[in-house]
Amino acid sequence: MLGTLYGIGVGPGDPDLLTLKAVKILGRVGHVFAASSSSNDYSLALDIVRDHLPREVPVSFLDFPMTFNKDRLEEAWRANCETVVQRLEAGVHVAFLTLGDPMTFSTFIYLLRKIRSRLPQVPVEIVPGITSYQAAAACAAVPLSEAEETLTVISGAKGGERLPEVLPFSDNVVLMKAYKHFPQILQKIRDLGLQDRVCFVSRCGLDGQVVEKDFAALEGLKPHYLSLLIVKKTGTPP
Ligand SMILES: C[S@@+](CC[C@H](N)C(=O)[O-])C[C@H]1O[C@@H](n2cnc3c(N)ncnc32)[C@H](O)[C@@H]1O
Repeated sequence: MLGTLYGIGVGPGDPDLLTLKAVKILGRVGHVFAASSSSNDYSLALDIVRDHLPREVPVSFLDFPMTFNKDRLEEAWRANCETVVQRLEAGVHVAFLTLGDPMTFSTFIYLLRKIRSRLPQVPVEIVPGITSYQAAAACAAVPLSEAEETLTVISGAKGGERLPEVLPFSDNVVLMKAYKHFPQILQKIRDLGLQDRVCFVSRCGLDGQVVEKDFAALEGLKPHYLSLLIVKKTGTPP
C-alpha cells in the first residue's frame, strides 16, 4: 500500500489562519516535509504548524534552490521527489507544507508533478490555504474585486514585465514576489500612471508587517521576500 501525499496550505503567516482540516491531517501523517532555501534550514511554514505536530513525527527539509537555472532546479526536484517517494512506497502518509495555498505559486506544484510522473497511482489530497494576497487585502482593507471587476494575479519576480500586458483587461492586479526587482516594478507602475492606486503589503500577519499605500514611501525600499503589491486600476484607490 502506498502512503497518501498531502499538500497542506498553512496560510500566509498567522498560525490562526491555519485550517481545521490542515490541523487534523497534520495530527495523523507519518512524515512532514517542508521546503527550505539553499542557504538555511529555516521554514516559515514549519514554524506556523509546529504547535500542531505530534512530537514524534519526523520532519525533513527539502532544498529548493531559489534560482532560474533550469538544470539546478531539475536536479533539486528530482532528488526531492525521490526522498518523498521512498516514504510513500514504505506506506507512510506524507505531508508537504506550503506557505499560503499549495496550488498558488508554490513548490508543491512542481513536487506533485514529479511525484505523479514517478508514481502515477499515488493517492493525493490537497488542503487549500488562505493565500498571501487574500490575507494582505484583508489586513489593508483593500477589496480585491467587486461586481463585474476582474482580478489578475501575476509574479513580480522578473520585475513585473507582464503588468502592461495584463492591465488592459484587469481592474485589479496582484503582483506577488515583489521584492528582488522592486525598482523595476515601481518604474512600470509609474510608466502606467498608477502611483495613486497601489497598496504594498509585506510580512502580512508576521513580525515586521508593513502596509503602505503612499507610493512615495516605497521609493528606495528594499522589500522583504514576503512582499506583494495590490494595484487597483479602477474603483476607489486603496
Ligand atoms: C512562492 S510565493 C508563495 C505564495 C503562496 N503559495 C500563497 O498562496 O500566497 C512567495 C510570495 O508570496 C507572497 N507572500 C507569502 N507570504 C506573504 C506574507 N505573509 N506577506 C506578504 N506576502 C507574502 C510574497 O509575494 C512572496 O514573494
